[in-house]
Amino acid sequence: MTPLRLTSWFRRRMLVLVVISAALAWLTITVGYHVQERREMVTLCRADATRVAAILAETIQQRPRLWRYDAPKFADRLGGEWLRAPAVLVVHDERGARVEVGPLGKSVPSSVLWGRAEVRIGPVVHARVWVGADARPLWNRTLVVALLAALAEGLLAFLLYLLPVRAIRTAEQRIAGLMTQLSLNLREEERSRIARDLHDGAGQALTAARLNLMALQRAPAGADLQQRIEPVVALVDEALDEVRRSTAALMPPAIADLGLHGAIERHCEAFASASGLEIAFEVQAPLPEPDSHVQTTCYRIIQEALTNIARHASAQHARVHLAARERTLLLTVTDDGAGIDGDVSASAGTGLRSIQTRAALLGGSARIFRAEKGTCLEVELPCDAQG
Ligand SMILES: Nc1ncnc2c1ncn2[C@@H]1O[C@H](COP(=O)(O)OP(=O)(O)OP(=O)(O)O)[C@@H](O)[C@H]1O
Ligand SMILES: [Mg+2]
Repeated sequence: MTPLRLTSWFRRRMLVLVVISAALAWLTITVGYHVQERREMVTLCRADATRVAAILAETIQQRPRLWRYDAPKFADRLGGEWLRAPAVLVVHDERGARVEVGPLGKSVPSSVLWGRAEVRIGPVVHARVWVGADARPLWNRTLVVALLAALAEGLLAFLLYLLPVRAIRTAEQRIAGLMTQLSLNLREEERSRIARDLHDGAGQALTAARLNLMALQRAPAGADLQQRIEPVVALVDEALDEVRRSTAALMPPAIADLGLHGAIERHCEAFASASGLEIAFEVQAPLPEPDSHVQTTCYRIIQEALTNIARHASAQHARVHLAARERTLLLTVTDDGAGIDGDVSASAGTGLRSIQTRAALLGGSARIFRAEKGTCLEVELPCDAQG
């Protein structure tokens, strides 16, 4: 029976998907947080710089020449004007020279976010103000967010991976169980069919032959002995035919010795001479080498299809055609007989059901329908299906 290998197939793809989506979600959360916070800090710095620029503009108007040298006073005026205590304040005069503005301008941290504003009086730019915030706490907070996001994403990814994989594994086990049950049922059905064939065919013929022989035993010896023996011989022949057909169905096909092509050819020849059907066997080369279970299934389906033609079709000719499309074996069995009844599913007996089950167990399909003249059976079997 073909192992489905659903879980391993699903696991591989699911792992890739889960890792990619978890990484993307982690990146989005971390980068999103950092960018948002950074933008907020820069906005605050810019607002602070604008306030400082306004105060500085006033100072410049009051002391146009001396404003540069009165740093402590300027720092005092700034006092509590800050939106958030800045890490650093830098002022450049109109020529770009740095102006001393008190302790805030002394040391610049290694990582700073800047907000800038120009000090204008009318259209003239008298100075430029830079307010800087220390970015290191932001980096630390981003690190914490990244760690928390990684933890949450890891947990979520684990659940996202584990739950569907477990569900698929359970489903696969149930399917495997059902398929085993199906193949056991198939075997049982085949056995009871052969028993029925032997009972109804060979059994009835032998019983009739026995009754005839008993009648012969009781009858006085006479000249019509030859005549009386004739039907007995016919009945024994009939029983022999039935036994031969049943043993042919039971015997393992000669695929190992002859290959699929040779085994089908031999069966067609033997069946043609036993049934009187004219059977054409055609192969559209080149055929891929199917798995041994696929070969056996193909052989068994041909056996059943030919038996059905001999039994039900009243056909003169049958045609077995084997071809391939990529790695799929395409089998067609047609006849020129009466044609199968319209509602195929209603008329399906053990034989047709076993054809369909055999094909389905290998992941293939089988379809039987009334053709223009006679009946057509079309079967598709994947060559790589494992038994
Ligand atoms: N080639 C055919 N031409 C006409 N009728 C067919 C053909 N193949 C199948 N059938 C019809 O389909 C029915 C079902 O076939 P199926 O092989 O399932 O059962 P069966 O041959 O009657 O019994 P068994 O279980 O022994 O095979 C047959 O009884 C017959 O009426
Ligand atoms: Mg049949």
